[in-house]
Amino acid sequence: MLPHITATRFVTPLREGGSLPGIVEASDCGTYVIKFRGAGQGLKVLVAEVIVGEVARRLGIRVPTMAVIDLPAAIARYEADEEVQDLLNASLGRNLAVDFLPGSFGYDGSRTPPADEAADIVWLDAFTANVDRTWANPNLLVWHREAWAIDHGAAIWFHHSWPSRGADSSRFAVQPFDTSEHVLKDVAGDLAAAHRRASAALTPAVLTEVVALVPDEWLEPAPGLDTPEAVRTAYVEHLSRRLENASAWWEAA
Ligand SMILES: Nc1ncnc2c1ncn2[C@@H]1O[C@H](COP(=O)(O)OP(=O)(O)OP(=O)(O)O)[C@@H](O)[C@H]1O
Ligand SMILES: [Mg+2]
Repeated sequence: MLPHITATRFVTPLREGGSLPGIVEASDCGTYVIKFRGAGQGLKVLVAEVIVGEVARRLGIRVPTMAVIDLPAAIARYEADEEVQDLLNASLGRNLAVDFLPGSFGYDGSRTPPADEAADIVWLDAFTANVDRTWANPNLLVWHREAWAIDHGAAIWFHHSWPSRGADSSRFAVQPFDTSEHVLKDVAGDLAAAHRRASAALTPAVLTEVVALVPDEWLEPAPGLDTPEAVRTAYVEHLSRRLENASAWWEAA
């Protein structure tokens, strides 16, 4: 499981994020970006953040530390902005905390990551079908001169069809990925080497360990997926099958 902390103060909403994330202080004296369970597409976005962010970390990509953060009702009570107060009230309980990187700035190409690191990030996005790393929305921060990957909530989109269609990993396993708009495509190095590194790192045991980090409560049941354990198995199965079928979505495989 991820570390578990409690929000002690809501500092400010982050107006630039589509899902209206905010900044909070927490019981461990840390400052975090909070991704709300009550925002937009709900819990699945938080699940994607954890799974894809932790897969990235195991590939050696820099990702801010994550934790599960409890949002107590008292914090919502004192928020003056009505829109923010509604979101806080809709998000009481367990949310996602992402370590706040103070003084970071959005990637603008002026400080490019090393070629192998860029290739690993392009590979991650192809593997997890993350279309959210383009020039329009780079979702890369530069902090202490290094690139940090954020915002993986839109990746592994397959789980959004589970409520209506149940889990079937065959489509996601072979879904092509278009890297032409990727923010790092021009600076990425050897893509075949990135694939070899990632395939060696992401063993079934590692994928299982990553999926185990998601709190049970975020794993909503779906047809054929009645328990958190069944949902976890479905995530591991989808990721494993995509890895086995890399030649369908990764030219350099
Ligand atoms: N860990 C962090 N440290 C510092 N700033 C951050 C962090 N996470 C996010 N931000 C800032 O907040 C913005 C919004 O965050 P993020 O992209 O995760 O939210 P979102 O609502 O999913 O956004 P989007 O509009 O891309 O869908 C980022 O572009 C960045 O400027
Ligand atoms: Mg973003």
